[in-house]
Amino acid sequence: MSENGHMLTIPTVTLNDGTAFPELGLGTYNLRGAEGIASVVAAVEAGYRLLDTAVNYENEREVGEAVRTSGVDRGELLVTTKIPGRHHGYDEAVQSTHASLAVTGLDYLDLSLIHWPNPSVDKYVDTWRAMIDLREKQLVRSIGVSNFTEEMLTRLIDETGVVPAVNQVELHPYFPQGDLRAFHTAHGIRTESWSPLARRSELLQEQVLQELAEINGVTPTQVVLRWHVQLGSTPIPKSADADRQRENADVFGFALTDDEVAAISALERGRLWNADPNTHEEM
Ligand SMILES: NC(=O)c1ccc[n+]([C@@H]2O[C@H](COP(=O)([O-])OP(=O)(O)OC[C@H]3O[C@@H](n4cnc5c(N)ncnc54)[C@H](OP(=O)(O)O)[C@@H]3O)[C@@H](O)[C@H]2O)c1
Repeated sequence: MSENGHMLTIPTVTLNDGTAFPELGLGTYNLRGAEGIASVVAAVEAGYRLLDTAVNYENEREVGEAVRTSGVDRGELLVTTKIPGRHHGYDEAVQSTHASLAVTGLDYLDLSLIHWPNPSVDKYVDTWRAMIDLREKQLVRSIGVSNFTEEMLTRLIDETGVVPAVNQVELHPYFPQGDLRAFHTAHGIRTESWSPLARRSELLQEQVLQELAEINGVTPTQVVLRWHVQLGSTPIPKSADADRQRENADVFGFALTDDEVAAISALERGRLWNADPNTHEEM
C-alpha cells in the first residue's frame, strides 16, 4: 500500500479512437454538494484521472467544480457523462450535451455515453448519430454507450459505421459478462465495469477473495479491482472516502494468476439488480 499523500499512477489503454483511457476510474453516484466536490478532489489528488458522472446523478456541477479546483491540468482529466433516456433523439441529444457543458462549466466532455438503450423508445440510433456529429465538432472527444447488448451494438455499427469506444455495463465477480467482453474485444470496444464491487453487498466476504487477499498481502476489494483490470475492463469504483479511494486505486503493484482470475469469475450467478437492458429502461 502507498503512503498517504503519494500520488498513484493509474496506467492507460488506447481506445479505438486513439484516446489514452485510464484502466481504473472514479464512480460518482451519490457524491453531491460540497462534500461531493471534496470527495472528487480527494480522488484526483490520489491519482484518479477518469471521473464518471451522468445527467441523472445530478452532480455534473460538482464534478466540473472538482476539475477546476483540483489543481490538475484539465487535459490530464477525463470526464464522462451520460445522456439520459428522456433526451434520446437527435436534437434532444445535442441539447443534452450543450446542457452538460453548461452545467459542468467545461469546454468539452471527454466521453459521452448513451446511459440506457431503452429499446421500446427505439431512438438510440438517432441519439448515436447526434453523438457522432458532436464528436466531429470536438464538443465531445470520445463517444460510447452503456448497458448495450451485443445485438444493440451490432445495430449501431451496421446503421452508422461508427463503433462505440466504450460500453459501460454491470460487471463484477457475480456477473463477469464473458460473452459480451469477447464481443467487445472482437470489435475494439473497451469494456467499463459499473458497480465493480457489486455495491459491496456480500461480495467482499467471499472466501476466495479473502484467501487471495491474504496470499497477495492486499484487501479483498483490491483483489476484485485487480480482477477487473486483468479482464481488460476499466472499473469505476465509487467511494466518498479518501482512504478507500486510495485503496481502490492501488491495484497496479501485484498480479493474479490466470487460475486465480478464473476462480474469481467462478463466483458468477447473474445480474444483481434485474437490470436487463432488453427490458429495464431508465428515463
Ligand atoms: N451506467 C450505468 O447504468 C451505471 C449504473 C450504476 C453505477 N454506475 C457508475 O458506476 C459507479 C460505481 O458503481 P456503484 O456506485 O453502484 O457501486 P460500487 O462502486 O460497486 O460500490 C460502491 C459502494 O462500495 C463502498 N466502497 C467503495 N470502496 C470500498 C472499499 N475499499 N471498502 C469497502 N467499501 C467500499 C462505497 O461506500 P463509500 O462511498 O462509503 O466508500 C459504496 O457503498 C457509480 O458510482 C456510477 O458512476 C453506472
